[in-house]
Amino acid sequence: MAEIDNNNNININNIDKNNIDNAVDNIKEEIKIEVKNLNFYYGDYHLLKDINLFFKKNSVCTILGPSGCGKSSFLRTLNRMNDYTEGSKLKGEVLLDGKNIYGKSIDVVELRRNVGMVFQNPNPFPKTIFENIAFGLKIHGIKNKQFIAERVEKCLKYAGLLDEVKDKLHKNAFSLSGGQQQRLCIARAIATNPSVLLMDEPTAYLDPASTATILDLIANFKKFYTIIIVSHNIQQAGRISDYSGFFLNGELIEFSKSGDFFTRPKDKRTENFITNRF
Ligand SMILES: Nc1ncnc2c1ncn2[C@@H]1O[C@H](COP(=O)(O)OP(=O)(O)O)[C@@H](O)[C@H]1O
Ligand SMILES: [Mg+2]
Repeated sequence: MAEIDNNNNININNIDKNNIDNAVDNIKEEIKIEVKNLNFYYGDYHLLKDINLFFKKNSVCTILGPSGCGKSSFLRTLNRMNDYTEGSKLKGEVLLDGKNIYGKSIDVVELRRNVGMVFQNPNPFPKTIFENIAFGLKIHGIKNKQFIAERVEKCLKYAGLLDEVKDKLHKNAFSLSGGQQQRLCIARAIATNPSVLLMDEPTAYLDPASTATILDLIANFKKFYTIIIVSHNIQQAGRISDYSGFFLNGELIEFSKSGDFFTRPKDKRTENFITNRF
């Protein structure tokens, strides 16, 4: 069998030599995003240093690390949100389905449709609940009203919000609670049918009940999406993620299956972090 080990190497055991190429192709097919020699700068400040890792399809990965270590900046490199930051510079590659998203022929609007994002602060548009979701569809040129209405309803359902809002779809999104607003943002992110969801501390400002609701959603979502979450909550990461990565001062210290990461960390610094010694 071919497997990906903790160092992201492809290992091939007990396999007929003729089948090796096939096995490697199959593994490659499982990879959604591959980050290669990624370096990222704010002006002269070299923040992210030589990051190499990959995210498998339909997996949940949590990026952990202390405040200021570059987690959010890293996440933003995965759908080019950093393009907006003046003076920022990126070297290296981010391959999405094998294609470099920093390549010349990339349509950034299409990239962001495919790689959706949910932010720390619930940030609905100052529009109705309905329009929050319909807006993205319209931007992408969808005009069919019936299609839009059905899609809005479906996304609210997937985000676990439909029952709570179905009688007030045309009320302002700001009339919702924080937890509901965050689920609306999730519904908005999935409206355009992405294959990757980036979530930057999506439960940071939510109460425990809303947090639990969102964590359950994420667990279900991996059937449909590749999910990359930034968190500083170690317990949460252990509970919901298949893979975990630890960043420190802009370096990726460790990246492995969550089981190994939490029970047998290879690096002392990871161990210190997960045992709360930071
Ligand atoms: N737009 C920016 N311009 C300059 N420095 C920034 C910018 N955004 C973040 N930084 C700096 O980069 C470092 C990492 O920030 P960030 O990626 O937000 O870390 P984290 O999400 O792990 O807290 C911090 O020192 C922060 O001050
Ligand atoms: Mg952050």
